[in-house]
Amino acid sequence: MHIQRERHQARRATLNQRLQPGLLIYPTARVQCRNYDNDFPFRYDSSFYYLTGFYEPEAVLVMQLGAEPQAILFCQPKNESREIWEGFLYGPEAACEVFGMDNAFAVDQLDSKLLELMAGNQRVYFPTGFDAQWDARVLSLACKAANRARGGVDTPIEFIDVRAAIDELRLFKDESEIGLMREAGRISSEAHIRAMQTARPGQFEYEVEAELLYHFMKQGSRSPAYGSIVASGANATCLHYSENNRRMQAGELLLIDAGCELHGYAADITRTFPVSGKFSGPQKDIYELVLAAMNASFEQVKPGTPRIAYHDASVRTLTQGLIDLKILSGTVDGLIEQEAYKQFYMHGTGHWLGLDVHDAGRYKINGEPRPLEAGMMLTVEPGLYFRPLLADSPASYVEVPAHFMHIGVRIEDDLLVTPTGHENLTALTPKTVAEIEATMAR
Ligand code: GLY
Ligand code: MN
Ligand code: MN
Repeated sequence: MHIQRERHQARRATLNQRLQPGLLIYPTARVQCRNYDNDFPFRYDSSFYYLTGFYEPEAVLVMQLGAEPQAILFCQPKNESREIWEGFLYGPEAACEVFGMDNAFAVDQLDSKLLELMAGNQRVYFPTGFDAQWDARVLSLACKAANRARGGVDTPIEFIDVRAAIDELRLFKDESEIGLMREAGRISSEAHIRAMQTARPGQFEYEVEAELLYHFMKQGSRSPAYGSIVASGANATCLHYSENNRRMQAGELLLIDAGCELHGYAADITRTFPVSGKFSGPQKDIYELVLAAMNASFEQVKPGTPRIAYHDASVRTLTQGLIDLKILSGTVDGLIEQEAYKQFYMHGTGHWLGLDVHDAGRYKINGEPRPLEAGMMLTVEPGLYFRPLLADSPASYVEVPAHFMHIGVRIEDDLLVTPTGHENLTALTPKTVAEIEATMAR
């Protein structure tokens, strides 16, 4: 495990500085039952983990915020006979020390301790409206605290969603996070190279998925950061394709959107390559257009540029290319104004990346796209998808030329905004037509 208690302590201290005095309550994720006697693999809540580094289930962070802040961890008690079945537990005493808490208790004492702590606090910060059971539990404890309180003792009257404040911290990555994300990017890049070198016609998509997962785990990642998309042929035009069970045919493209999670941090890479190792003419036309869009977007990833600028750069390049390929007709400005590109490019050009693949942090401030700043981590992922018209497609949609039908291309890299521009954390993954064909030939 990757425990960096000073980092987590520093994050809690920063959060304390940004909030008014009060009581913070932040539970980790729930264990989810998969079927009888069998749970889904546990994944901690990202913000809870960001503030604690603690990765066991059934844990809650409580902080007394103010001039003399206190961090208290509630976790499963040490229980050696249970550990025979379930594995090691820190227990409050060791957890307090290892994770740098001021105090720790068994989680079954949470309600009684919260009742005590609520006396003297007007304000409660927690992730309101996120989990109805937690909402009810906190409100009912606050009600009990009010009923018990003697005159003159404050009890909670304000319940504030703390997620926005934590999200804003999470948006700016510190050196340790950047280091982990560089590693996640490297491992994921290598997995894509492995996929390019092993994929061949006649295999099933899941065989390629197995190569990705193999490399992730061999390198210490315990899970992909999201469900891997391994989409051949027309499946590549389905944005969240997940079945990964089709047999790949010679001459088709294979779109892979996959990244590992490393100590909680995500990589998110997409590459599209020809199953047989060589792009056809129309495939290459579309591929190079998407790559040109990506390069245009890269130029906009630097401090001070509005976040939306890198999306706009892809939209402009793709629209011009669709005119050049005689798929759309009109002027670039007119077609952008009509959003004609949305027939072939229906998603945004990226998102924040971090502990969540679609990471925390606002995209707009007071309705305006926020400027990029050093320390932000984001994806750049333009694409084009050619699908048959639907019965209810807008009348303005055009027929797709037969030679482009069923082509789906997306290319995605992970960028850190630096003081002078950006660093591409996934640059190792082959990307030009020549690089991909050379990698596949090896
Ligand atoms: N893999 C999810 C995304 O690209 O947004
Ligand atoms: Mn993405
Ligand atoms: Mn992706």
